[in-house]
Amino acid sequence: MSALIPRPRLVLAPGAVHVPGWLTPEQQRELVVACRDWATGPVPIRHTELPAGGVMSVRTVCIGWHWQPYRYTRTAGDVNGARVAEFPDWLVELGRSALVAAYLDPAAGDGYTPDTALINFYDDQARMGMHQDKDEKSTAPVVSLSIGDSCVFRFGNTTNRNKPYTDLELASGDLFVFGGPSRFAYHGVPRVLPGTGDPDTGLAAGRLNITLRVTGLT
Ligand code: SIN
Ligand code: MN
Repeated sequence: MSALIPRPRLVLAPGAVHVPGWLTPEQQRELVVACRDWATGPVPIRHTELPAGGVMSVRTVCIGWHWQPYRYTRTAGDVNGARVAEFPDWLVELGRSALVAAYLDPAAGDGYTPDTALINFYDDQARMGMHQDKDEKSTAPVVSLSIGDSCVFRFGNTTNRNKPYTDLELASGDLFVFGGPSRFAYHGVPRVLPGTGDPDTGLAAGRLNITLRVTGLT
């Protein structure tokens, strides 16, 4: 859906860029189809268990490498022991073009080879506390793609989970990249905005977020 009020590309901090409406409706539909498939297996989507007890409110499925707090493995020992789905070449290409769009530099995607994606599904109640993505052994950027309901995305500082932070809305099709000096910034999702998504994406309700990352593992 095209916004009545234009939402311009925004550099929040060095290396942290929001590109509203970057994915076309067709790309969003294709990603929803792909994520639905990955959600069924070989490792099914699930609420990740936390070492301190409890489970995450989002449901997650991973491809390329499996993430569980706080490490990556090829097989999902905390789910069903299966090896996760391969990370497809087309998603590497999408990651590279995301960096070009975010950094407005035709060379920004050169050599970027994400090898894992965490696919998170948020229902109306799901949220994600402030955290850093720091289980990767690489400082390559994280590429975040959102589909479905909008959310409030909180983008903070690299020192702690508290202020200063900026709250912005991530809507369907939005790209957010955090790399460079912002790569280890704290971030989270305080709430989803139910009913804001367009069912034409193939997602009748809820929010899908896909983060592409380089694990630095072999
Ligand atoms: C994440 O931090 O891994 C997900 C962020 C989001 O859902 O936008
Ligand atoms: Mn994260």
